[in-house]
Amino acid sequence: MARRIVITSGKGGVGKTTCSALLGAELAKLGARVVLLDCDVGLNNLDLAVGVETLVNYDIVDVVESKCRIRQALIQHPKLPLLYILPSAHCNNTGKVTGENINSILEELSKTFDYILIDCPAGIGMQFHNAVFGASEAIIVTTPHLIAVRDAGKVAHLLCGYNLVSVGLVVNRIRNDLISKKFMLSSEEIASSLDLKLLGTIHESDQITAVSSVYGNLFSIKDNTILDFQKLAKNVHLCKSQEILPRGFWGIKRKKGV
Ligand SMILES: Nc1ncnc2c1ncn2[C@@H]1O[C@H](COP(=O)(O)OP(=O)(O)O)[C@@H](O)[C@H]1O
Ligand SMILES: [Mg+2]
Repeated sequence: MARRIVITSGKGGVGKTTCSALLGAELAKLGARVVLLDCDVGLNNLDLAVGVETLVNYDIVDVVESKCRIRQALIQHPKLPLLYILPSAHCNNTGKVTGENINSILEELSKTFDYILIDCPAGIGMQFHNAVFGASEAIIVTTPHLIAVRDAGKVAHLLCGYNLVSVGLVVNRIRNDLISKKFMLSSEEIASSLDLKLLGTIHESDQITAVSSVYGNLFSIKDNTILDFQKLAKNVHLCKSQEILPRGFWGIKRKKGV
């Protein structure tokens, strides 16, 4: 049975797709069978982030419309054989994929994979709910910026309405130089303000910026952020035994009005 982890945030552009791709790669390097499910219908870009955009023949909408089987739409990563991608579509009709559709895809994928990382679209509309609907766990990604943190808090609140066994936090684009000058909150401070378990800290990376600007494929980066993603993958992997613990173990105590 796969762990179905939705990577969500509320605010767009905070690094959900980046984290889905690089966390997935590191989990696969640990020996897990991983599938990345792009649930951002209409604004799909996970295929580009992992460098398989030229290998896409079918997408999630084709699966939902029974134009192909799930395994026909799955792309095995050419460099990481344990990593697969189920791409999303660039159609305008985001209503084509429902939460039930995604859930049945998850059920099918669960038979074959250890991890399903669900790359959630930005916002808290129907597509957000569809992506969260079949998940068993959630990782909220935020940057240290107040607007993103606030949205992360709102999403954490919304996630309380779902039957998730755990909700963890990843703080992305951290800069130690700014933290030491007190111009940026640390990831620990952010996790504490949101009352969420901190699963990982990802530093600001010029290589991620450069690669995503001119090349697309994040798997070519070689700087220290790879170590951040390795740590994150180990933390996620280690949390396996916590699946059986009651919800709330990771400490979601909502504050009034968040
Ligand atoms: N740690 C990082 N350092 C530098 N740039 C980053 C980092 N994480 C993400 N980015 C950049 O931020 C932008 C948005 O990231 P993305 O993963 O697409 O966000 P989301 O999926 O939440 O919309 C991309 O251009 C990406 O390259
Ligand atoms: Mg994205």
